[in-house]
Amino acid sequence: MIQKRVGVLISGRGSNLGELIAAQADAPYKIVLVISNNDDAGGLKRAADAGIATQIIPHKGKSREAFDAELDTALRAGDVQIVCLAGFMRILSDGFARAWEGKLINIHPSLLPAYRGARVHERVIAAKESQSGASVHFVVPELDAGPVIAQARVPVHPDDTLEILSARVLEVEHRLYPAALRLLAEDKVKLEKGLAVFG
Ligand code: GAR
Repeated sequence: MIQKRVGVLISGRGSNLGELIAAQADAPYKIVLVISNNDDAGGLKRAADAGIATQIIPHKGKSREAFDAELDTALRAGDVQIVCLAGFMRILSDGFARAWEGKLINIHPSLLPAYRGARVHERVIAAKESQSGASVHFVVPELDAGPVIAQARVPVHPDDTLEILSARVLEVEHRLYPAALRLLAEDKVKLEKGLAVFG
């Protein structure tokens, strides 16, 4: 089986990264590099424990473009073919998004295009939504606006707290991300003229 070389960008806990790692043994992808902008990101340990190369690239004191140029250099040095954002809490420059177009995906804890941006669960609860979910999408320059590859839906109950709802969504994220990455790694989905095209 040919495995595409994957780089994962994280900022924190890295539970989605953990699921991508757990699924990779018989998957058409292999995570070769994990980069964090925070040196205390829990995901760094998960990667190191799995024998995956890690790199810390701090963002503080750098322009967005300078930070992204460092990310780009590290990913290319690792011969990365696909980049996954997994709880990576930095907005990427237009140049980075364009340079990796079609090879750069993100997981977002909402049913996009609803609830782009931050503090999703808080806003979903405040709006008394009856459902929410998670989306894996191609990254384009506009924040959380790229075409969706896969989505999973969960109910929202009237007495849900932030913790309860985020845990329910996270559980489906953990199944969704490896499945979506598999589709991309097998060339079963492509970004064509702004659309996710399957087949
Ligand atoms: C996940 O819920 C992911 O969807 C979200 O951050 C969490 C990261 O958890 N991402 C975003 O909100 C991106 N805008 P993890 O570090 O345990 O994978």
